[in-house]
Amino acid sequence: MTDSRAITDIPSVVPPPLDQRGRPLHDLRISVIDRCNFRCPYCMPESTYGEHFNFLSNDQRLSFDEIERLCRMAAQLGVSKLRLTGGEPLLRPHLHRLVERLRSIDGITDLAMTTNGVLLRRHAVALREAGLDRVTVSLDTLDPALFHRMSGGRGALEEVLDGIEAAQAAGFPQGIKLNTVVQRGVNEHSVIELVERFRGTGIIPRLIEYMDVGNRNDWRREAVVPSRELIATIDARWPLDALPPKYEGEVATRFRFRDGQGEIGVISSVSEPFCGDCSRARLSSEGTLYTCLFAVQGTDLRTTLRDGSDDQVLRERLRQVWLRRRDRYSEERDERRQRARQKIEMHYIGG
Ligand code: GTP
Ligand code: 5AD
Ligand code: SF4
Ligand code: SF4
Repeated sequence: MTDSRAITDIPSVVPPPLDQRGRPLHDLRISVIDRCNFRCPYCMPESTYGEHFNFLSNDQRLSFDEIERLCRMAAQLGVSKLRLTGGEPLLRPHLHRLVERLRSIDGITDLAMTTNGVLLRRHAVALREAGLDRVTVSLDTLDPALFHRMSGGRGALEEVLDGIEAAQAAGFPQGIKLNTVVQRGVNEHSVIELVERFRGTGIIPRLIEYMDVGNRNDWRREAVVPSRELIATIDARWPLDALPPKYEGEVATRFRFRDGQGEIGVISSVSEPFCGDCSRARLSSEGTLYTCLFAVQGTDLRTTLRDGSDDQVLRERLRQVWLRRRDRYSEERDERRQRARQKIEMHYIGG
């Protein structure tokens, strides 16, 4: 779609947009690469993502200049939080240089990254020095054999733990979190061990309900462990108190250990959807903007970035996408599944 208005009709300062359900745009998640060095079966099953899979090429991906420019426009529309994702973001060469650029954008108060942790030891200090505020590491189990299996036979647990240690030593000011996707009959039995290991360390585990992202992971509702079940188990061992949300639209529901040994969070997209105040947009590494994790279609911004359009046109295009947004997939999950949507895949927009 092209913008039909003359460039001179677009004001240089615009009010932050609200979508069709009155939700502001606060959070932009940027996938910097669609490749990953793992093959987690729930995200990039080896059967699909073998050696012949066609990932995006270098020139299809947005450059750091293009990402920075888009983030500046997003910040002018109300985005204050950026998260770098992948695939595996640390496979993108010189990522710390992008961090440095994003850090300098007015209005960005929170700059985070989600990684599988394997390359974190190598990059933690450079990322910290470039201004990354915090890191989230995906870690599904502390059982080495199960970990190996859950990474599609590609990952070694020790490397990830080593990466987490390096991140701690690098001193990310807003801390480190863990993303643990819990699947019935796969790793639910190892959750207590994981929670115990990180109690008292300042690292915050977040237990995620297994979601039906994309179409390739063979999701079944029976494989979801409802968060309330996990919270009851953990509370029986170490009593918990519920905490209020840190910000409007927070994805995780937080709890603190009554004995002062830190906090945990649960992300309950299946059992308790949180679309009502969802303020997140997602940008693929080829510059397509999605307004929901479960979207079928996105809006191409790369063309606008590359066709000589000026900043106001780009910003207006972004604003129009948000103004039209109606998404609430998790609240409509069952009804939607019957329609067998062709959803985008997790590694392509980074979760
Ligand atoms: P904080 O800023 O630390 O609260 O993190 P965050 O929740 O913004 O980001 P993070 O990437 O750590 O989120 C953890 C996981 O929650 C993601 O990997 C997704 O699996 C899931 N998640 C995040 N945002 C959404 C969302 O908008 N919808 C759904 N359904 N799941 C989400
Ligand atoms: N359900 C829930 N979480 C998922 N992730 C990847 N696939 C799924 C899924 N199907 C998580 C990863 C990572 C983050 C990017 O998303 O574990 O922490
Ligand atoms: Fe696993 Fe994350 Fe890689 Fe997907 S992107 S295969 S969840 S490590
Ligand atoms: Fe937001 Fe879509 Fe997730 Fe709902 S399902 S919280 S609309 S990303």
